[in-house]
Amino acid sequence: MIEIIPSILVKTREELLEKITAVEPYAERAHLDIADGIFVPSMTILGLEELEGLDTNLKIGVHLMVSKPENHIGHWLETLSDKFIFHIEATSRAQEVIDAVKEADKSIGIALNPQTPVSKIEQFIDQVDFVHFMSVEPGFYGGKFIDAVIEKIKDFHFLYPDKPIEVDGGITPETAPKLTEVGATMLVAGSYIWESKDIAKAINNIRQQINI
Ligand code: DX5
Ligand code: ZN
Repeated sequence: MIEIIPSILVKTREELLEKITAVEPYAERAHLDIADGIFVPSMTILGLEELEGLDTNLKIGVHLMVSKPENHIGHWLETLSDKFIFHIEATSRAQEVIDAVKEADKSIGIALNPQTPVSKIEQFIDQVDFVHFMSVEPGFYGGKFIDAVIEKIKDFHFLYPDKPIEVDGGITPETAPKLTEVGATMLVAGSYIWESKDIAKAINNIRQQINI
């Protein structure tokens, strides 16, 4: 079963609530992008305060596009989020982040920017629940899909056939089947869904291409 996961990249709590309400009927989970203006040039809500008291049926995964995630993960583990993604490029203390999340019995994925080779995460692959491949440069909606990532995922899947693969960025009905063909099972989609106005239809359009 392939999961299509809407991404939420926002600057205010109001926008966050709007987007959560919009996708809630059509998805089981959402992907919350957190950008700190340091690891990536953009800034989003910081997320911790904004999630407080949030009432939603959606499961929330958090994509930490932040420098030194080891300084933030403890707070995030106190939120309703059940799934966490951090970047190998953002820390020299990946082990600490992984250990903290596992200790809390939540799901942990390690993210790679488009240009980062899989060799950078080799020692952590056995320990994480999934690997998160960026297929756009991180930080924004609407980035250009980088085709070379398809080959990278294919090679990874050959070497680690049992490790779940999530792909983030530039997901459309065109790119989605190319990714599921090489082993991806979780696809995070932003602008394609938000620009469509009809969220159910957009998710369906992606799903239909995957099933062919
Ligand atoms: C990119 C974010 C993605 C983004 C995807 O920095 O991590 O999750 O929201 O948006 P699209 O689908 O527009 O590339
Ligand atoms: Zn993301």
